[in-house]
Amino acid sequence: MHPMHPVAQMIYAALYPNLDENAAVNITPGYTLYEASYREFYTETDPKAASLETRIGPVTMNTPVLAAAMDTVSGTPMAQAMSKIGGAAVIFRHRLAKTQLAWAKEAVNTKPFLKAKPICLRMNDRIRKVEETYKRTHHSTYPVLEGKKLVGMIFARDISWEGKEEHSVAKWMKPLKHLKTVSPETPFETIRHRLLNEKNCRVLPVMDKNGIFHGMYFVKDVRHANPAWHNGKPLVGMAIGVHNRDILRVKRGLQLGVAIYVIDSSHGNCSPVIKQAKRVVKLVADRGAVIAGNVASVDSYVRLAETGVHAVKAGIGSGSICTTSQVTGVGVPMWTLIRELRFAQKYLKAKGLHAPDIIADGGISGPGFAVRALLAGAHTVMAGEWLAAANESGSPEIKNLRREINGFMENRYRGMASVGAINDRSSDRYGITKSAPEGVDGWVRNRGPLLDWWDKDDELMRGGFGHLGVKNITELHKRGDDPYTWLRFSGAGQQQMAVRVTTS
Ligand code: XMP
Repeated sequence: MHPMHPVAQMIYAALYPNLDENAAVNITPGYTLYEASYREFYTETDPKAASLETRIGPVTMNTPVLAAAMDTVSGTPMAQAMSKIGGAAVIFRHRLAKTQLAWAKEAVNTKPFLKAKPICLRMNDRIRKVEETYKRTHHSTYPVLEGKKLVGMIFARDISWEGKEEHSVAKWMKPLKHLKTVSPETPFETIRHRLLNEKNCRVLPVMDKNGIFHGMYFVKDVRHANPAWHNGKPLVGMAIGVHNRDILRVKRGLQLGVAIYVIDSSHGNCSPVIKQAKRVVKLVADRGAVIAGNVASVDSYVRLAETGVHAVKAGIGSGSICTTSQVTGVGVPMWTLIRELRFAQKYLKAKGLHAPDIIADGGISGPGFAVRALLAGAHTVMAGEWLAAANESGSPEIKNLRREINGFMENRYRGMASVGAINDRSSDRYGITKSAPEGVDGWVRNRGPLLDWWDKDDELMRGGFGHLGVKNITELHKRGDDPYTWLRFSGAGQQQMAVRVTTS
């Protein structure tokens, strides 16, 4: 049996000075994010102006949310959507390396907000066709092509149809010479700036130097956009395991431009994870962020801190689909865990030691819990259930990913240690070491495309910052350390917090 890391022992002794080795009964309380709430504070700041920006090592995120490395959450579509909202998805690892890398490549090479395949028209199409298409699709802007070349645009809303049915598109289109265009190399920020600031610039078609059309950007899509980038590419993460062959995934990921590498284990406090973390930290250097986990003690935090990782992922037994606590007995409620790790981080920093940031993983089922986790000391949260609700969730090869029940769409959401996910790991023939399940297979209510609902959850997170009177995550952490910030709901309080009327 290994003793606790001596630094962890000192941290625990400082955290819990009343514990006594010789006492017969030693137990400390553990609180979940569901019962730990916060007081509100005076503010003069508009919550909308709060910054949700966070960093993991050299990587900056505009939204402190990672989509969990799970097969019903993070494939290519989730990675594309998450970078658009300023966060990132961690593409799950339980498939062959070439499959995971192909998904990562597609996500990294996405041009956020580009409508790459819009409905196109030809010069000799009739206006009748434009009218029919407009009434069917409600899209008002159509590129006009000859072969693959852009020759003009037709703006359906500007045409009064009557009497023009047989006119050609060529007659009513805006010809190329009068169009504003961008090239495939134009950075997104330039495109957004032009769309927001130039007169009569609601749409920008993309055309290369040979005149070939590559898609178009719309002002309505980019108005509130704040995507997350790394070296000019969408921010994408990938999970890896602890084997030598996983290092090849990292090397290839770096070539592709993948920014975040997560050494993904249900028990991060073991020698294979620690060895792998050291190797990946060395390999990635300052080219991306390295995260290891999961941890649920100061001992694991200190040991992973010594590997040089940028962040540790905290949470064992708190996930919505997770039965680990029930079936193995382990588990540290998330609020207490984050507070302990926050204390450990400050302790290491004060000693001049490397002190990774904290990612709260498990039980972050919406904006309110994200705010509480960040306030407690997390720099970022990882979410499964919350994001599984999006249309973009899941990996396409999983059977029965969606279902309709009582008129509502539901998305499949299962633990990576559920029976189904364990069986589907068989495509990675080297990965079958697990047989006893520690997770369940279930469903969450579908909320539609992520971008259609994220604005609301973003507003609610900012609302939390507003209640706390803080402008950013640094101020939030200070507030979380304030002795008067926190209070705990009893069971009765939790009942009162819940909706108490019939809603359907
Ligand atoms: P939420 O609450 O966001 O939790 O749905 C997602 C996190 O749960 C972890 N995870 C599991 N934990 N058994 C577990 O005990 C499982 O099968 C399982 N699958 C995922 C993981 O950390 C994830 O990010």
